[in-house]
This record gives sequence, structure tokens and C-alpha cells, in this order.
Amino acid sequence: MNNELKVKEKNNKLFFIETWGCQMNEEDSEKLSGMLKKIGYERTEVKQDSDLIIFNTCCVRENAELKVYGNLGALKKLKDKKPDLIIAICGCMMQQEGMAKEIVKRFPFVDIIFGTHNAYKFPEYLNRVKQEQNSIIEIQNKEDGIVEGLPIDRKSDVKAFVTIMYGCNNFCTYCIVPFVRGRERSRKPEDIENEIKDLISKGYKEITLLGQNVNSYGKDLEPKVSFANLLRRINEIEGLERIKFMTPHPKDFTQDVLDAIAECENVCEQVHLPVQSGSSRILKKMNRHYTKEQYLDLVRRIRETIPDVAITTDIIVGFPGETEEDFEETLSLAREVQYDSAFTFIYSRRKGTPADEMEEQIAEDVKHERFNRLVEIINASSAKNNKKYEGRIEEILVEDFSKNDDTKLTGRTRTGKLVNFPGSKDSIGKLVKVKIVKANSFSLIGEEI
Ligand code: 5AD
Ligand code: SF4
Repeated sequence: MNNELKVKEKNNKLFFIETWGCQMNEEDSEKLSGMLKKIGYERTEVKQDSDLIIFNTCCVRENAELKVYGNLGALKKLKDKKPDLIIAICGCMMQQEGMAKEIVKRFPFVDIIFGTHNAYKFPEYLNRVKQEQNSIIEIQNKEDGIVEGLPIDRKSDVKAFVTIMYGCNNFCTYCIVPFVRGRERSRKPEDIENEIKDLISKGYKEITLLGQNVNSYGKDLEPKVSFANLLRRINEIEGLERIKFMTPHPKDFTQDVLDAIAECENVCEQVHLPVQSGSSRILKKMNRHYTKEQYLDLVRRIRETIPDVAITTDIIVGFPGETEEDFEETLSLAREVQYDSAFTFIYSRRKGTPADEMEEQIAEDVKHERFNRLVEIINASSAKNNKKYEGRIEEILVEDFSKNDDTKLTGRTRTGKLVNFPGSKDSIGKLVKVKIVKANSFSLIGEEI
């Protein structure tokens, strides 16, 4: 499917967009921004100034939803002051059954509600809202085919995310994603390659290939294309410096993928490998299809094949039925792997998922206590891994000035470590050599050489 928008003159209208959740949502917001700019809107970071406010929501944990409710409630006053203000709400949270109705009931001033499968129709809804009296609610339960050719207004000029597949077929028992993002659909390799070539022509140096389970890429294509082969094809593209990818599933991490990472000089030495739990018993209840031993064996093979690789992960504590012994298995796994960093989550009950129906839900105080113990171990291994960088000379892709200090630049190593160092504007967007002089727990300090 292709989507053509008529380019309009600037209409002096401003939009504000706030995004919660994962990189997929960020990318959807970049597409919404791209479409809006094409039809004449400009972006503002000041909510009060805007003519259109969009909330792109997440529902992977309850916290994310609570933030949306809080932010929506706060808009009532603004809408009273500016009745022409258009308020739109979209994203994963809206795909849940009954949610759109709930939003209309609690926040009747919302003008447009749409879901993840029809975001590409947003300009049409905007047009309609001006004529219609009632709120527009457009939620599609079934995914359309992949819509190619949408304009994307990217946040960074240096590194870009490129979605290679949408949806997820895994149904981990705690996870809402398969219910709100639909089944796996892979983009054609030619479309991915063309998008990357276009990005390179605009000066981008780093691409992260995105998908909920990237290493099951291409199984739905005719002819089939494996993720390993996609990596090899992208590695051949002239002018690209760095290839990263997110997120692989341990159960689908074949030797072929490992070999491709090792072979392709542009694929970076960084693997995000969500483990979720270190207890084989809990992994089974989570429907993850691997044991602790199989995961550890995969980590061993990754380290063997890719020297100096940085390994990061996602871990959930307090899954239903997790005993102290199960949790200690998670701690022992974290100590053994020595992660470079980890996203640690407290299990959150999600309606409609099998884990929500399980007995033996864990008490909040127990979950929090376990969470703190885990974070301590992760922080210790992050600091220890960072320390190894002291004295090394690293290739840094310079992204911008440092957030807190505009005499310093900020960028990342091939392994994803954040490095701050003194430097000038000219280096932004370039690869530079930096000597690491000091390691902190969460970042490195360097000097350009
Ligand atoms: N509760 C807590 N964490 C969750 N995740 C997904 N669903 C839940 C949930 N119900 C975490 C997983 C996943 C990451 C994106 O979010 O660790 O890898
Ligand atoms: Fe959720 Fe599991 Fe799919 Fe990841 S692989 S999106 S955790 S169901």
C-alpha cells in the first residue's frame, strides 16, 4: 500500500505531540509528525501554544496508562480556554477493548481517538473533525497491510530507526503487545533497503532495525528472507557506518544470525537480549520457550563469536508465582551474565493476558523489595563493564551537545555506551576517535584525539 498526501502551504497551525512507550511508538509519532508537516502544520514543544495536541499512548504497564489519564485530565482547562483546540489520542492503549468508550466517558472533550492500525489515516480524521459535532472514534481490530511511503519527521539527523516488521506472534503470558499490535508482518527487503539508502543520502550514519521480534523477520514473506540475510544485505549498502537491531528473542537467535553479526563489519557489537526471568520454571509460565541454561549457553556463544560485545536485557520481577528461590535464580543469572545495562520492570497485571488470570499474584511490597535487590546487581555490573573502557580509544558517533553542558558533545560507542567529551559543533554527525578518561556508572567521559 502506498500513501500519498497533498503537500500544503504552511497553515500557521501548531501541533504538540507526546509519546509514551517503546521505540515503535516513537516511530509512529515521527510518522504522525511527518504527515502533519506535509499538510502544513508545524511542531511546537509548548502545549499551551498548540492548535492540535496528540497523545500517543502505551499500555505495556499500568504506570504508562496512569500517566496518560493524568495528562488528559490536565487538558480540560486548556480546552475550556481554547475551544478550537483539537485533542487526539492514539496508540496501543486505544487498541484495548472498551478503552475508547472509557476515554469518551471520562474525557468527553477529546476530539479524535484512533488506534495503531489506522494511524496513517490521521489527516483524514483531522479533516472530518472540523465538520462533525461528535468525537471521532476509529479503532480497527485487524491490521491493514503495511503502508509504505509515509513521510517521517525524525528526531535525530544522525541515527534513525527503521522498522523491519510489525506485530508479534509470541504471546508471552504477561504481555499485551500481541493484542494491540497484531500479528507479525515483515516489510519487503527492497523497501527497507530503499529507506536506508535515502537516509544515507541525507547524512545518517547509524540505523537501528526495529521489530518486536526481529529474528523472526521474513518468515511471512514470499520468498522467505531470513534476518541473517537481511543483515548481510544491509551491510552491503554503501555509506552506512553502523547497523544495530532491536529486539531479538532468545528462542529465535540462530547460529546463522550470530555468524552474520560477526561477519558484517557494520553490524555493531551490541546485543539486547531480553531474559525476563532467570528461573526456568517462571520462563515456562511466561511462555518464553527457553530455559535458564539455554539462555546462558546463548550468551556464552554470543561472547565467543563477538569479542567485546555489550549485552543488555529486560527483566521482570514479581511474575505470578515467583518464589524467593525463583527470584534468586534471576539474581544468579544477572551476576553470571554481567549485563552492561538492563531495563528492570515490576510485573504489572494487564487485562486480557493469561498471567492476569493466574493465581499467586505477588504482593506489591515483595515486588519492590526484589526490584531493588536486582537493580543493585545490574548497577554493579554496569559500572564494572564501564570501567573496562578507561584508557581505551573508541569510535564515537557524535549525536549532539550534551544535555547538561553545551561545551560538551555526546555520542555513543559501537557498543552503545554513552560518552561525553569536550568538542565543537563541527563534530556533530561525525565519527570521531575519543580516548576514554573516566568511567561513571551510566556514562563515560572522554577526550577527542
Ligand atoms: N509487566 C511488566 N513488564 C512488562 N513488559 C512487558 N509486559 C510487561 C508487564 N505486564 C516488559 C518486558 C518487555 C518490555 C518491553 O516490557 O520486559 O521486554
Ligand atoms: Fe511481548 Fe513477548 Fe512479543 Fe516481546 S516477544 S512483544 S514480550 S509478547
